[in-house]
Amino acid sequence: MSKKKADGLKSQYYSIILDSIADGVFTVDRRWRITSFNKAAERITGFSREEAIGQFCYEIFRSDQCFERCPLRETMETGREIVNREVQILDRFNREVPLSVSTALLRDERGRVIGGVETFRDLSALKELEGEVKEKYSFGDIVSRNPRMLEIFKILPEVASSDATVLIVGESGTGKELLAQAIHDLSPRREGPLVKVNCAAVPETLLESELFGYVKGAFTDAKRDKPGRFKLAEGGTVFLDEIGDMPLALQAKLLRVLESKEYEPLGATHTERADVRVLAATNKDLEEMVKEGTFREDLFYRLNVFKIELPPLRERKEDIPLLLEHFIERFNRKTGKEIKGLTEEALRLLLDHPWPGNVRELQNVIEHAFILCKDRWIKPEHLPQYLQAPPSTPPRGSLREVERELIEKALRRHGGNITEAARELGIHRTTLWRKLKRYHLL
Ligand SMILES: Nc1ncnc2c1ncn2[C@@H]1O[C@H](COP(=O)(O)OP(=O)(O)OP(=O)(O)O)[C@@H](O)[C@H]1O
Ligand SMILES: [Mg+2]
Repeated sequence: MSKKKADGLKSQYYSIILDSIADGVFTVDRRWRITSFNKAAERITGFSREEAIGQFCYEIFRSDQCFERCPLRETMETGREIVNREVQILDRFNREVPLSVSTALLRDERGRVIGGVETFRDLSALKELEGEVKEKYSFGDIVSRNPRMLEIFKILPEVASSDATVLIVGESGTGKELLAQAIHDLSPRREGPLVKVNCAAVPETLLESELFGYVKGAFTDAKRDKPGRFKLAEGGTVFLDEIGDMPLALQAKLLRVLESKEYEPLGATHTERADVRVLAATNKDLEEMVKEGTFREDLFYRLNVFKIELPPLRERKEDIPLLLEHFIERFNRKTGKEIKGLTEEALRLLLDHPWPGNVRELQNVIEHAFILCKDRWIKPEHLPQYLQAPPSTPPRGSLREVERELIEKALRRHGGNITEAARELGIHRTTLWRKLKRYHLL
C-alpha cells in the first residue's frame, strides 16, 4: 500500500472514532484554523463540519473566554493541558451553552507542535438539574438548605394563605424582613400594600399617631386628618418590625386591633375597623421581657400563637456556600462583573467565622470583595481585614510587653511548669528562666 493511501485510511479511521464519541472535538492548526470537527461538535455548536473547517476557531466556537483566556492558546503557549474548564459558548442560533472543555497539543510524528485539540462536553442538562436543586433550596428570595429552614419553607404557603398574625423571631440579619415579604407575597393580600413600621425607629411619642393616625385638632399641629399606617395598609399587611420596642401603653391598643380589628385614631370620637393582617418581628426575647414587665403578657400570648424562629447563620453553616452563590450571582448582575466564586482559602475563612451579623454581614462581605476583586476568583485579600486576621486577637504593646504576656500565658497553660512552657515557646528552659527573672515573674 502506498504511504498516501495508508495515511488516507488512517485519517478515515480517526474520523470514524472521533464521530463515535459523545464529546465534541475539534482541532486547529497553528493559525487557529479548524482542521477537524466531529459529529458531537456539530450537534453541540449547531455548525456543520463543512461550515466549520477552514474557519478561525473563534468564529465557530464562540466562547466567553476566546479573547481573554483562550484555553487552547494557553495550552499552545505553555504546553500544559487544561482539563474540564467551564466556559459558555454561543451556538449557531446564539443560544448560550455551558460547556466543560479540555485541551491538548497536537504534534506530528516528529514531535513538532502542529496545532491543538479541544474536546468539550455539554453541561446544559447538568446545569438544569442544578437549577432544579437550587429551586428546592429557595423560597422567593430566601435561600437555604438547612433542615430547620426547609421546615419553614414547607409550612410557608399554609401560613401565608391564612390571615393569622405571625411573629418572626431571629437575631439581627437572619432574614426576618425577607420572610415577612415572602409571607405577604404569597398571601391572598398580595395585591394589597405591605406597610412596614420599625417600632424602634419611630420616637415613642409619635408611634401611636404613626400607626393609627389622628384627626384634625387632635393636637396643635394637627391641621388636618392624617391616616395612620393601619389605614394605609387597608386590604394588605402591616409589618411591625422590632415589636419588642413598642411602648407598653401602645401594646394594649395593638392587642385590641389584633383581637377585634378596632382602633381609634388620635383625638377621634369614632372607631375604625382595620382590614389588615399583622406580621411582627423581633430579635428580643419577648418571654424574658414579659417576666421583666416590659412586654404585656396577653399580647405576647396573642403573638406567640404563630411563631417562626429563624436560626442564626452560625447554626446553619451549610448555607454559606449556597448564600455565597446567591449573592455572587446578584452582584455579578448588578456590577457586570463575572466573578465565579471564592478560592478554597477564602471560603475557609468564611466558614470559620462566627457570623455575629448573620446573613446581612455575609452579604456585606461579598459586596466588599466585589469592589476589590479584579479577576474571577475572590481571594482572602479581597475580604475585609477582620476576616483575614487569625481568630485569636493579635498581641498589642511593645515587644517586651508582648513577650511577657506570651510567657505568662504559656506558664498558665502549663500550670507553672517551666520545662513545658519553654517547649511550647520554642526556647531553652534556662532562657525562659532568665526571662522570668527579668520580667519578675518568678
Ligand atoms: N436566607 C436568605 N437568603 C438570601 N438572602 C438573605 C437571607 N437571609 C437574609 N438575607 C439578606 O440579608 C439581609 C438581612 O435580612 P433582613 O433585613 O431580612 O434581616 P432581619 O432579620 O430583618 O435583620 P434586622 O434584625 O437587622 O432587621 C437582607 O439583605 C436579606 O436580603
Ligand atoms: Mg429587619
